[in-house]
Amino acid sequence: MTDSPATGSAHRTRTLVILGAGGDLTARLLLPGLASLLASPRGADMRLIGVDRSASTDDAWRKRVAASFAESPSKTADTVIAHTSYVQADVSDPADLARVLEAAGPDVSLYFALPPAVTLLACKALRTLDLPKGITLALEKPFGTDYATARSLNRLLQHLVPEEQVFRVDHFLGKSTVLNLLGLRFANRIFEPLLSADNVERVDIVFDEQLALEGRAGYYDKAGALIDMIQSHLLLVLAFAAMEPPASVDAEDLRGGMAQVLRATRPWKKDGTASRRARYGAGTIGRRKLPAYVDEAGVDPSHGTETLAEMTLAIDNWRWAGVPFVLRSGKALADARQEIVFTFKPVPHLPAGLHGTTTPARLRIGLKPASLDLDLMINGEDDPFELDPVALHAELQAGQLSAYGEVLASILDGDPTLSVRGDVAEQCWRIVSPVLSAWRKDAVPIDTYAAGSAGPKSWH
Ligand code: BG6
Repeated sequence: MTDSPATGSAHRTRTLVILGAGGDLTARLLLPGLASLLASPRGADMRLIGVDRSASTDDAWRKRVAASFAESPSKTADTVIAHTSYVQADVSDPADLARVLEAAGPDVSLYFALPPAVTLLACKALRTLDLPKGITLALEKPFGTDYATARSLNRLLQHLVPEEQVFRVDHFLGKSTVLNLLGLRFANRIFEPLLSADNVERVDIVFDEQLALEGRAGYYDKAGALIDMIQSHLLLVLAFAAMEPPASVDAEDLRGGMAQVLRATRPWKKDGTASRRARYGAGTIGRRKLPAYVDEAGVDPSHGTETLAEMTLAIDNWRWAGVPFVLRSGKALADARQEIVFTFKPVPHLPAGLHGTTTPARLRIGLKPASLDLDLMINGEDDPFELDPVALHAELQAGQLSAYGEVLASILDGDPTLSVRGDVAEQCWRIVSPVLSAWRKDAVPIDTYAAGSAGPKSWH
């Protein structure tokens, strides 16, 4: 028997209840993530219950689970499929939720795979119930819809359970490539001393995708690239890239370190205008012909939603003062460039006689695929006094679990290290707020780019 860090209770079989079991997130990401965990040596001692509004049967639900588990078959997964059940319930109705909790038993994790407004209603309904002591709550992004709603959702959660029993899910914290940053920075003496304003000119965190809207207008058209990617995922990556070395990677130290650096982070210009936004027009990616974003099904052009966002940030502390951090993410782009790049300053003096065009040294950490590159200048082959660029390249192994598998493992273990702490979620909204309001006032123009291109021509 082991102790669960979240609840302090002796370990028993935990029941994972997915609220919103009929949704796209459950089928596409949660269940496959769970299957990858069950098939791994780590495994999980768990029971699964699916909950949704529509009438269905245990059998129909089992078939859906089996279909989503298909890519990672295992004996443990078969056992979970055989014992899983379905509960039809309206999650905003306290009586329905009480039935769900009774079916789940005392060691339960409620996973809200629901839109934010429905999650809020479900949390309000939970407030009227006596919750089992060992319950944990897992909430999907977006966590709130702005700074104020994130704060009030946090207050509501505080009334339900202690903070360490709240798991604000951001699957980027489960990506092995993001976690690589910790080992790279803190287990090697050769990088960490260089990563500061003394040596680094700028840091870029880029997550460009070839994927377009993929039928997600209902959510994406109200969010846009800034909220979908930068407000959540990329600011957490920035926290890992810029935080001070923590004493340990337990939930307190790691999340405390993230909160500390994010509290020091602000838009480069306080009015939010050190930012750019753009939207894709019709174009072609590989063999895929894409309509303009505004012609995609379900898009309301009056929302003015951006599909490519960039913002420059400053970190007001000793280590990073004056170094721009440029965060960018967009959809329907030519290349899926997904990396963190530390660009180093020029050397203080290049010895006279060494010639050739010098490019700055760069440390590049690839997020997909996982890789590490160090771009350097060295003496050329023919003329030993002419400098040539060289790249030291390493491919990194992908983690055993998918990002969702990693996140689910931590939820089932009751360890909140890889989930977003309440104050961190609020900081992420605070940081993007000036940009959102500058865009609302049209203080920053919205550019266009053809789907499948490298972005707006004026940005190159
Ligand atoms: C999701 C965003 O959170 O992350 C998507 O909503 C994005 O728009 C996705 O495509 C990117 O993460 P991954 O792991 O699927 O590359």
